[in-house]
Amino acid sequence: MATRRPVIAGNWKMYKTVSEAEDYAVKFLEEVKDVTEIDIILCAPFTALYPLKNELEESVVHLGAQNMSWADQGAYTGEISAQMLLDVACTYVILGHSERRELFGETDEEIGKKVQKSLTVGLTPILCVGENLNVREEGNAAEKVQAQVSRALSGLSTEELVRIVIAYEPIWAIGTGKTASSKDAQEMCAAIRTTLTGLMGVSAEIVPILYGGSVKAENIAELMTEPDVDGALVGGASLDPQSFAKLIHNAGSLGERVEGI
Ligand code: PGA
Repeated sequence: MATRRPVIAGNWKMYKTVSEAEDYAVKFLEEVKDVTEIDIILCAPFTALYPLKNELEESVVHLGAQNMSWADQGAYTGEISAQMLLDVACTYVILGHSERRELFGETDEEIGKKVQKSLTVGLTPILCVGENLNVREEGNAAEKVQAQVSRALSGLSTEELVRIVIAYEPIWAIGTGKTASSKDAQEMCAAIRTTLTGLMGVSAEIVPILYGGSVKAENIAELMTEPDVDGALVGGASLDPQSFAKLIHNAGSLGERVEGI
């Protein structure tokens, strides 16, 4: 019997200076220090990672980055390597966020290379997938997202695939205040799990699949009652330490989910 633990990850995006991040960490840890039934991750901007390493050391909060390069090192101006993230105690990295895909032209192929690199060095990738409104209205949302998952994960072994986290984030719900209904979120997360099952068999049951898009303290509990929604990737509502802690407490009451494999 394997378990998948709930995961709540905050994605600060391009917010917070070093002093703001430090101040946040002190307040946040005070609120969540006793949470043991949920994996909590803060994905901060690169400049805040080193100071957060010191603040979060030996705490229940894991540190994550929001992007990284597929290259080990070299003449790649402006890029950050996996080794650099490990060096500042990151254990997670968001890859393929829709803002990276839409604004910076990242392709499934590049994202796949980044996923491979993160797994090689021992970072846990949080692979983001999601459809835009047109695709949803045309009825092709599941197909689109399943193709993103397959392309980014092709060629990985089951041993590698069991170490990933997936975030389903419909683009039309990000930062808009429009959350997918819990039924829609479940349908899409289940479709993703079906694709994972095709790639890795029954081990797909242990991969956490998160929902992202206007998640708040008020809607997290309902989303997490769905059997394939294992947590959330939270943007705007992760920026205030007290309200993000409240969201985590609201999610945490659901405890561990157990799936037989
Ligand atoms: P949001 O962002 O919670 O502000 O909608 C989610 C995300 O982009 O990861």
